[in-house]
Amino acid sequence: MRKKIVAGNWKMNMDLNEGYRLAESINNYFRQKPSTKAEVVLCPPFIHLAGVADILKDGNVFLGAQNCASEPSGAYTGEVSAVMIRSTGAQFVIIGHSERRTYYNEDNKTLLKKTIQALKAGLKVIFCCGEVIQERESGIHFDVVKRQLEEGLFSLSAEDFSRIVIAYEPVWAIGTGLTATPSQAQEMHKFIRDLVENKYGIGAAQDLTILYGGSCKPSNAREIFAEVDVDGGLIGGASLKKEDFIAIVEAV
Ligand code: 13P
Repeated sequence: MRKKIVAGNWKMNMDLNEGYRLAESINNYFRQKPSTKAEVVLCPPFIHLAGVADILKDGNVFLGAQNCASEPSGAYTGEVSAVMIRSTGAQFVIIGHSERRTYYNEDNKTLLKKTIQALKAGLKVIFCCGEVIQERESGIHFDVVKRQLEEGLFSLSAEDFSRIVIAYEPVWAIGTGLTATPSQAQEMHKFIRDLVENKYGIGAAQDLTILYGGSCKPSNAREIFAEVDVDGGLIGGASLKKEDFIAIVEAV
């Protein structure tokens, strides 16, 4: 059976001490009451990674970064490589978040390079896709997501693809309080699973974890996660509040 995952994307929030405190309290909670249904992943900013890895080392919560460089190493001032991320103890990296695509002009070609670096370093990739509101309103949202996946992922080998998690995050639902309805999420997740089946076969499609992201909160998580092709969530704002994040994990 494919894995369920709930990952918290802290984005650019929390100073070092706030981050450590949040990680500690979430880790303590799941150490005492392990999540049996979902793998829990925290994705803090880069500067937190090593310290949070230390906090999480005795526990069952996983660690991820929010981005990585497209190059392996060298003279790229300000960048952080996938190997460096892996060396902190992190197991995951988010690639292709819409905020990276929009504010930092990351295109599918760059995202493929990042994904290759991450996989080479031994990380699992949470690869984000999703359409903006105008694309949904004009009915091209399936084409947009298809292109993001084809160009960003589908040149990977089947073996590499087995270490990919896909997160569908409709951009109009991110941080807006607007959530996709469970049927809108299910429809896109099924579409994604079918694309993967066409490319990599039914086994790969059935094993693929597909997360929903976009204004997910305790009050709507249960009904979204109940859809057959929704395997958990990528949580922004609500992952900064321990109680909300835990409630979302428990909604799986
Ligand atoms: P919100 O949960 O704040 O809408 O953010 C979702 C997101 O972008 C997670 O990566």
